[in-house]
Amino acid sequence: MSARSSVSHDSDSGQEDSNTSKDMRRRSTSESEHKGLLASAPRWSGNGIQQRKKTWRQRRAVRLCLLFVVALLLLLGGASIVVKQKSEPPYGESEPWYPAPTGGTVQRWEKSYERAAELVRQMTLPEKVNVTTGTGWSMGMCVGNTGPVERLGFPSLCLQDGPLGLRFVGNATAFPAAITVGATWNKRLMFDRGRAHGLEARLKGINVLLGPSMGPLGRLPAGGRNWEGFGADPVLQGIAAAQTIKGIQSEGVIATAKHYVANEQEHFRQAWAWGTSNAISSNIDDRTMHEIYAWPFAESVRAGVGSVMCSYNQVNNSYACQNSKLLNGVLKDELGFQGFIQSDWLAQRSGVASALAGLDMTMPGDGLGWQDGKSLWGPELTKAVLNGSVPMDRLNDMVLRIVASWYQLGQDDTSRWPDPAHGGGPNFSSWTDDRVGSLHPGSPGSTEMGVVNQYVPVRDTEEGGNHDALVRGMASEAIVMVKNELGILPIPRSIKGVMTKGGDGKLRVGIFGEDAYPNPKGNNACPDRGCNEGTLAMGWGSGAVELPYLVSPAEALHREFDTETVEVTDWKTNTLNGVDGTAAAQDLCIVFINSDAGEGYLSWNGIKGDRNDLFPQKGGDDLVRSVAANCGGRKENGEPASDTIVILHTVGPTILEKWIDMPGVKGVLIAHLPGQESGNALADVLFGSYNPSGHLPYTIAKREEDYGPTSGIMRYPNSLVPQQDFTEGLYIDYRYFDKYNITPRYPFGFGLSYTTFSLGDLDIHMGNLQGAQAIPVPARDRLTPPKLDPRVPDPNTALWPPGLRPLNRYVYPWLESGGVGREGRYPYPAGYEHWHAPSPAGGGEGGNPALYELAATVTTTIANTGPVHGDAVLQLYVSLPSDTTDSFGKPLDHPVRQLRNFEKVSLGPGERREVEMMVGRKEVSYWDVGVQDWVVPRGVVGVCVGFRGSRDQGFEGGQGGCLGVEMFER
Ligand code: BGC
Repeated sequence: MSARSSVSHDSDSGQEDSNTSKDMRRRSTSESEHKGLLASAPRWSGNGIQQRKKTWRQRRAVRLCLLFVVALLLLLGGASIVVKQKSEPPYGESEPWYPAPTGGTVQRWEKSYERAAELVRQMTLPEKVNVTTGTGWSMGMCVGNTGPVERLGFPSLCLQDGPLGLRFVGNATAFPAAITVGATWNKRLMFDRGRAHGLEARLKGINVLLGPSMGPLGRLPAGGRNWEGFGADPVLQGIAAAQTIKGIQSEGVIATAKHYVANEQEHFRQAWAWGTSNAISSNIDDRTMHEIYAWPFAESVRAGVGSVMCSYNQVNNSYACQNSKLLNGVLKDELGFQGFIQSDWLAQRSGVASALAGLDMTMPGDGLGWQDGKSLWGPELTKAVLNGSVPMDRLNDMVLRIVASWYQLGQDDTSRWPDPAHGGGPNFSSWTDDRVGSLHPGSPGSTEMGVVNQYVPVRDTEEGGNHDALVRGMASEAIVMVKNELGILPIPRSIKGVMTKGGDGKLRVGIFGEDAYPNPKGNNACPDRGCNEGTLAMGWGSGAVELPYLVSPAEALHREFDTETVEVTDWKTNTLNGVDGTAAAQDLCIVFINSDAGEGYLSWNGIKGDRNDLFPQKGGDDLVRSVAANCGGRKENGEPASDTIVILHTVGPTILEKWIDMPGVKGVLIAHLPGQESGNALADVLFGSYNPSGHLPYTIAKREEDYGPTSGIMRYPNSLVPQQDFTEGLYIDYRYFDKYNITPRYPFGFGLSYTTFSLGDLDIHMGNLQGAQAIPVPARDRLTPPKLDPRVPDPNTALWPPGLRPLNRYVYPWLESGGVGREGRYPYPAGYEHWHAPSPAGGGEGGNPALYELAATVTTTIANTGPVHGDAVLQLYVSLPSDTTDSFGKPLDHPVRQLRNFEKVSLGPGERREVEMMVGRKEVSYWDVGVQDWVVPRGVVGVCVGFRGSRDQGFEGGQGGCLGVEMFER
């Protein structure tokens, strides 16, 4: 959330972190809220009298200045045309897609739409507008608050971040971040985390949770917010997002799939915030959009998600929140989305155009700047309906979608929500920790006070059990062991009768690195966790939460080691001075390093959201090198006498090359972002109470360049509107490594265990596609949405209610008399006059239901052949035939392999299990741009299953198996 988007506090101002974070919240809001606006405000809007008094000298200086600015703009404009011509996006601009499809077309939502229609029919025009528009930044208790329709019992909706817990809420759970959850590859845990998250939200009175995030998807390994999503693959993201959504929504809370779409980097994501007047444009071709970036959103819609958040950036040079192709075309028509589209916070850049393009709710309701009270909707939307520029049908559909989602999640059942007798709604404030506080803190001069924090406990309840334990289990399941030489791991808690360095039978263990210890200034010292101090439990930004507590690794290790037989030495910093000697005195060295990133409205130590490189931060590489070279002193051959284990907390792919092959480095665990139970989860794996079963949700390269020439962050604008061409198409992460035959350090899906597994033969049973069409039969059974009165109401119904005293800058739906305007011609966007035909690929939630029919069932067995219990992750990859041509007759290139399903299997020693994995029609299809549909290719499709990552067939003694099958009988 970027009310703080222009707050940049680097390491120096990290001093401020000792302030309580809620104080910072208020301050940073007021400090920063207008920066973007000021930058764009007309220079000459000041005091006219003073201007008249200017001398001719001043006037000449002004003229010269203006001349200079105009010349500069012309120059930049010229340059941008050149740059633009050189990098014309593959499909030019975005195709117009009108009108906005109406919700209520699928069976599963039928009842909710009927009920919604009944309610919305009774609403006046301003009441309808109120439901679509936020009341303005920090005008209510949540990060987003819509206007209520009290007369009809429809409440103000509370929208709150975010993907890893409840932001700005005291004493709620700090779950592991999504990248950590992706690394578990455990579908059940993904659901459980969602359910626990949803329950906490409901108990706090949150109607709409702003997560899960699946965009950024991870195209750029240094992307600042990749950690808010589940990994660099559309299927992993899609399954994890769907499970999370089902979990959250099982508690009656509306989940939000965000950020739609292609918001892959922080630099230039917003207009003005990065010095360019427009946000970056992600230029993507149609096939790549379908097969990579829109895929997880399709899975989210299929899971029944109630809301989708459109992103800040542009896509093919049209802002994502007013891109009719993406909102009306792909999301609502083709994917059959039945819920509502909300804007990211200030991502809406136009009033009428965004409404026509399919936006249903504006957040937080302000206009182009924070707390400006000049909403692009609110009274403007009322006016737009009255003067005919936004059809009444469109407004009806917006409101129906929001109200239907509310019914769909059962939110009308007040017995499940905070007690309406006590005000209902949110029982916490995002803006203060005090019990009593301002009810509209964003409104200057507002004096209305009330009880704003009721401190309702949510972490451990009768209804939901203990979430701390859930977090611990999840965080240990996510730990990826990438190196374990000579079986150094697991380590014992106590040592008896062993020769040790001190010769006294006491094992000397050194814990090295700041990342093992808590932030000395406090766990929540940096607002929105916007600094890298102490052990890293989550990234920073709106996706971060206040930690209720944090078990640091050092704390857990001290507790776990038997003090009778083990002596632990702490090296609490990353300082190298003297570390060699301390390392030399140990029998075992455990080094902690990390790499942090976050949302671009905060920067730390020169990192403006996106990471500056993929190396560990704060001198982590040097620390590992020094410790690993010296641990236990040196043997005669110069090698270190003792062993080093490296623990990495990280937001994403991290290059390990500076030390990974050092002989002293025997074990490496990648623990990602574990949340509040960090130390406990790590101890479970280190000491072997839990056998590691995490697998990488991305590829670890040997060099940053190995991710490909288009994988870097664009740090300088290449045009007035920065143009980022996704020319690599489908080839991101492992798809790129496979295509160009680049050996990674560790492939996507890689992870080791303390036990060994063996995989049986694959068996495949063909599903329903045999003898069927390559293109699915179009779906026919769309329901007719409820009809509401399309007539424009009497303008008098939209006037200010007499006697209502407005709050300063609060967004209301009413108009002053005289502000109604007249019906006239509105310059509609190009293509608005021509109605677009529905997509042949649509028809149900997630697209044509036929896309999800069973293509094949793959069966195999997995056995635990080692001495301890272990969890294997079976990963199923599909390779489409290399000799496919598309409907234009052009040869088509497919990725060497693509993840299509996975299953985690728990096995005792010696146990063997049969595992079945389904593959659907869409998973063996490609998107054909010519026919605008998913096509199953003729020819042999390769199906491979392995348990050690995407290269388990042939990569370092891989043990996976493959089969070739034809989807159709010839
Ligand atoms: C972020 C969203 C977040 C919103 C509300 C935006 O800056 O991009 O992810 O949900 O703020 O906090």
